[in-house]
Amino acid sequence: MRVLVVYYSTYGHTHRMAEAIAEGAREVEGAEVEMCRVPETLPEEVLQKMGALEAQKAFAHVPVCTVEKLSEADAIIFGTPTRFGNMCGQMRQFLDAASNLWVEGTLVGKAGSVFTSSATQHGGQESTILSFHLTLLHLGMVIVGLPYAFQGQMRIDEITGGSPYGASTIAGGQGERMPSENELEAARFQGKHVATIASKLSS
Ligand SMILES: Cc1cc2nc3c(=O)[nH]c(=O)nc-3n(C[C@H](O)[C@H](O)[C@H](O)COP(=O)(O)O)c2cc1C
Repeated sequence: MRVLVVYYSTYGHTHRMAEAIAEGAREVEGAEVEMCRVPETLPEEVLQKMGALEAQKAFAHVPVCTVEKLSEADAIIFGTPTRFGNMCGQMRQFLDAASNLWVEGTLVGKAGSVFTSSATQHGGQESTILSFHLTLLHLGMVIVGLPYAFQGQMRIDEITGGSPYGASTIAGGQGERMPSENELEAARFQGKHVATIASKLSS
């Protein structure tokens, strides 16, 4: 049973969450878990101005994803930073290039799930995940979220991401905050939860 964690990250927050998602998925017996990054689409000069070039070196070892990779997976967990309350353009472009999977119904009945990162606490984490779900529904995927069985999303003693829709982290206006232990725990839970459901779906 193959679980693919597909993500884009500019500064490393979504990457760190992707690692935790993969860790959780690996806990499920029989799960083969792979991580991959969607291709960068911004010109180097823009990335330079954004301060992304240096940051992205930290996860340059993660292979770049192909559309074919999606078709081989039994479950796909997508990670994207919030861009104006939506998925990032890099992810959008990657998915738009996957229209053959829609035509052929390749992902129909497979588990799909989403996690995210945003600068601010109320800057669109839920809208990013929920609007991403529209694409998964068009592809025929079975949407998996982050159930309240992960009790850490009830916390009010500290600022935290995480909602029934999926794990998330709050990066801060300058990207100064890395995912907290609670947010990483949410990501591990989601990874394990998706892999457990995928294992049932594929058996
Ligand atoms: C073009 C652009 C739009 C963004 N829009 C939002 C937004 O709507 N809400 C928000 O809280 N953060 C927004 N951000 C901040 C990113 O979500 C933040 O940098 C990202 O979550 C960090 O994750 P990463 O390190 O994986 O790239 C935006 C950033 C950029 C560059």
